[in-house]
Amino acid sequence: MPTASLDHPMTELVTHGGADYLSCLVQLSKLTRAERYLEIGTETGQSLSLIDCASVSVDPTYQIKFDVVGRKPACHLFQLPSDDFFARHDPSALLGGKLDLAFLDGLHHYEALLRDVINTERHCRPDSVILMHDCLPPTADMTNRGGRGSLHPKFPNFWTGDVYKTVQILMAYRPDLRIFLFDAPPTGLVAVTGLDPTSTVLADRMDEIVAEFAPRGDDPARLQAFMASITLTSTQHLVDRRSWKALLAGK
Ligand SMILES: C[S@@+](CC[C@H](N)C(=O)[O-])C[C@H]1O[C@@H](n2cnc3c(N)ncnc32)[C@H](O)[C@@H]1O
Repeated sequence: MPTASLDHPMTELVTHGGADYLSCLVQLSKLTRAERYLEIGTETGQSLSLIDCASVSVDPTYQIKFDVVGRKPACHLFQLPSDDFFARHDPSALLGGKLDLAFLDGLHHYEALLRDVINTERHCRPDSVILMHDCLPPTADMTNRGGRGSLHPKFPNFWTGDVYKTVQILMAYRPDLRIFLFDAPPTGLVAVTGLDPTSTVLADRMDEIVAEFAPRGDDPARLQAFMASITLTSTQHLVDRRSWKALLAGK
């Protein structure tokens, strides 16, 4: 059982009380009127199956169990690591225009997600939305880089890796971005917009950034401080277009 100790790796750092991440994904596909969708990390296809528009999906080891084609006019699957995909393929060319929505849920290492963000942003418009999953972990014990699932009884075997650091990086190095931290169970959903497909800040400083956020012994304490410092956005802002527009307008 989790202890009450504040710095124990199974201490619950946040309780996400909003709508679950899959229903938020569906809502955002409607709110953005998505016609072109990119998904990095598809696994069984549960998230991809919920999207109706033309899609590109990337995963090095698919284990498809859902109807991922559904009503989509086009559905391109690439069984590759995302770095290889971006090196060899152009998602906006495949889909006939810039992306409206992207869902990044691939390798759960901060530097891998950072590369996915950099590569995805190049195919976006300023008002496109990039979603990042698993970046607001409720416990530190699910943030290891080895794929070990949480021992917390409330989050059995959940693994987020250390992708929360990617949010810290975007906040520190890209103050021009709009970043919303949604309280979507079980591990949060981060939406990034106000994108700049011409930006080279992250790519130019990649080595420095990766070194700055390299794993350290005090990562659990630093995660705890980060989670205590952030303000979550309610998923209520996704219930309809008026609420979403108000959020974007800063109201
Ligand atoms: C958590 S699962 C995705 C779940 C799915 N998005 C959903 O919500 O239904 C993560 C997936 O990322 C994939 N993955 C791992 N490394 C990857 C990489 N380098 N590039 C793209 N996907 C990767 C894994 O194979 C796994 O299927």
